[in-house]
Amino acid sequence: MDDLAQEAISVLWRNARGTWTRPSPRLYPHQWSWDAAFVAMGWAHLDPLRGVAELWSLFRGQWATGMVPHIVFDLTVARGAYEPGPNAWGTVGHAPPGTATSALCQPPVHAIALARVRQLAERRGADVLAEVDDAIVDLYPRLVAWHRWLHTARDPEASGLVTILHPWESGLDNSPRWDVALAAIDPGDADAPARPDLTHVADPGERPTDLEYRRYRHLVDRLVALDHDQAAALAEHPFRVADVWFSAILAAADDALAELAVPAGRPEDAACHRAAADRTREAVDACWDADAKRCHDVDRTTGLPLVADTVAAFAPLLAGTSMDRTAVLVERLWSPSSAGHHALRWAVPPSTAVDDPAFDPRAYWRGPQWAPITWLVWWALQRAGHRRSADRLRAAGLDQLRAVGCAEYVDPLTGQALGSPAQSWTAAVALDWLGHEG
Ligand code: SER
Repeated sequence: MDDLAQEAISVLWRNARGTWTRPSPRLYPHQWSWDAAFVAMGWAHLDPLRGVAELWSLFRGQWATGMVPHIVFDLTVARGAYEPGPNAWGTVGHAPPGTATSALCQPPVHAIALARVRQLAERRGADVLAEVDDAIVDLYPRLVAWHRWLHTARDPEASGLVTILHPWESGLDNSPRWDVALAAIDPGDADAPARPDLTHVADPGERPTDLEYRRYRHLVDRLVALDHDQAAALAEHPFRVADVWFSAILAAADDALAELAVPAGRPEDAACHRAAADRTREAVDACWDADAKRCHDVDRTTGLPLVADTVAAFAPLLAGTSMDRTAVLVERLWSPSSAGHHALRWAVPPSTAVDDPAFDPRAYWRGPQWAPITWLVWWALQRAGHRRSADRLRAAGLDQLRAVGCAEYVDPLTGQALGSPAQSWTAAVALDWLGHEG
């Protein structure tokens, strides 16, 4: 068997905790939301039903409102092993009985993942497909409730854009996209929070700073003080950003939900999901800056665009924009603003453009490359029919993985593996690319 496939399978098995999977053995010992979606696709190459189980495990933590929390805690993990731990979130009465969860969310890649799991089940024949379709009948209403919550609780004005209340909700946590909005947060004089994360990486410089962490914890505490009342948070929380990348994923996920409506036995819903996707796509497109040739997020506290040259530039591609705009973004992908920069070790998009003043090749989301982000851009290229670019990106992504293994992220200049080793979602991407049938 291919060495990379062997490593990836071993990473998934080593990180597995029964029906769910830790993102990594020590740094992330609980179940994370968007990690779980990628991991489901990885498992599905081995067993589509194990892929479904991953999503089921995550949705155990879904709140009655429809919100899917970004962490479902494993209460057997030692206290203090991960911070903020289960007691920090004030979620009693919100999280389903018997579960402990965070109170934030992450990008809704789950419907995209479930549609991919179903495709992989199709390859296995009618019996496996029938079993996966049975599970889709049960999972589909949960996905519908999740998307509905995003379209309403996080976009009560039906602007088409989802507002995030914490950088951790973006999934691209420390991106320079949030620098201006975060700089306005006064974390008060609370003590520096515990940082077990720093003990699990080779160099603390690969993780956020203490000041960033104080701001992160302050934002969590503010949401706890509001008892997670979303309307109140949208009115007064100090960090409120309309996130174009998150919204673009929702548009793509609503298209996937339209596809899933058929096996779920609800074909009549498909048009409604497609209409929701169209509205979000239009809103993402409306954030386009024709000079910069990218979209900007909007700080809802000031009404101002947040300007930074990051991988979020590809939001319209992910959302499924027009052919013309897609062509502009494909050109951008292979330009020095992204994967075409001459200094890159592998031609895959850095999280922040090399020439952006905030670029840092080793710092969390401020320059390094992440395989699942490359996967999303690859997936979007395929969907848009840019087959040659998609193949080229997948080949570069696989070259990188063969060289660095299943690292959490990679220094784009030196090619050094950074963050945690043995990251589950990196393993999942490796399996999906290796198992791709062109
Ligand atoms: N990704 C964040 C962390 O580093 C929070 O989800 O813990």
